[in-house]
Amino acid sequence: MALVTTKEMFAKALVSDYAIGAFNVNNMEIVQGIVDAAKIEQAPLILQVSAGARKYARPAYLLKLVEAAIEDTGLDICLHLDHGEDFDICKKCVDDGFTSVMVDGSKHPFEENIALTKQVVEYAHAHGVVVEAELGKLAGVEDSISVDERSAKFTDPAEAQEFVERTGVDSLAIAIGTSHGAYKFKGDPYLDFDRLKEIHSLIPETPLVLHGASTVLKEFVDRCNEYGGQIPGAQGVPEEMIREATKYGICKVNIDTDLRLAMTAEVRRFLIESPSEFDPRKYLGPARDAIQRMVQHKIRDVLNASNTL
Ligand code: G3H
Ligand code: 13P
Ligand code: ZN
Repeated sequence: MALVTTKEMFAKALVSDYAIGAFNVNNMEIVQGIVDAAKIEQAPLILQVSAGARKYARPAYLLKLVEAAIEDTGLDICLHLDHGEDFDICKKCVDDGFTSVMVDGSKHPFEENIALTKQVVEYAHAHGVVVEAELGKLAGVEDSISVDERSAKFTDPAEAQEFVERTGVDSLAIAIGTSHGAYKFKGDPYLDFDRLKEIHSLIPETPLVLHGASTVLKEFVDRCNEYGGQIPGAQGVPEEMIREATKYGICKVNIDTDLRLAMTAEVRRFLIESPSEFDPRKYLGPARDAIQRMVQHKIRDVLNASNTL
C-alpha cells in the first residue's frame, strides 16, 4: 500500500475494456466516500486535486488525507494534480509528493503547449512522477458556438501523434465533445468516436484521458431540485458513451460534477427534512455514503473496473 504512479494501472487498462476513475477531492468526506468505494470494488484509483482544491484545502491537507486513506484502506492510490496551468504549480505538486501531474497547456498554441509540456515532463520524470498533458479544447455549451466551430477545437489526430512523440508525455487528454460541469450538450449528446478511434490507432500505446466525463446523474439533479435547488437543463455524457470510449484507449475518466451533485443532494435533503438539526456530521455522513454508492456505480457499471486490482 503506497502512493503509486499510473504506470502499472494504465498498462493494464490499455489492453482491457475498462478505465480507471479519476475523482476530484476537496475534503475528508469526499476522500473517504471514494476510497471506500474503490476498496469494496477492488479497483485501481486516482484521486485528483485541482489548483482550486489545493488552495481551498491548503496544500498539506489533501496530501495527508490521501496518505491516511492509503493507511486506512490498504489500497495503492495515485495522487494527481488536475489541470496544472503552468510549470510552477506542477513543480510544487511534484515536490510535495504527488505521483502524477497534469500540465494543461491546451489554451496555448501547439508549439507553446509542447514547450511547456516538455519542461514539466523533464522535471517530473527526474523525480519519478508521471505526466498527463492536454491537446484540443473542451468546449462548454455556454460558449454558444456551432457544431462545426465546436469540433474545430477537437484534438487533431496527427497533431496528437506529433505531440506525444515530441514531449514524451505519459498520457494525453483529448477533446472529442465532452466539457466540464453540468451543462455539456444543448441538443443530443455527441462524442466524436471516429476521431477517438483514429487517435488511438495512431498512438496505441498512449493512455488517453477523458475530461468532463460526468453523466450528471438525474437522480441527484432531481433530488437537488426537489429540495429547493435550481439546476434546470443539466445534461451530461450518457453512461453508454463512457463505456464505449473505454474500448478505444480511454484509460482515465475524470469525474467531479457527479461528486458535487451527489454530495449537495444529500445535504439539501437533510437540511430541509431536519431543519432543527445543526450537527455537520448528521449531513456530511449521508453525503459521504451517497458519494460511496455513486462511485461504486461508476466503477462497476460504467468503467467496468471492479475486481481489476
Ligand atoms: O476540471 C475541473 C475540475 O472539475 C475541478 O474544478 O477547479 O473548481 O476545483 P475546480
Ligand atoms: P466533470 O465536470 O464532467 O465532472 O469533469 C471533471 C474533470 O474533467 C476534472 O478534470
Ligand atoms: Zn478536466
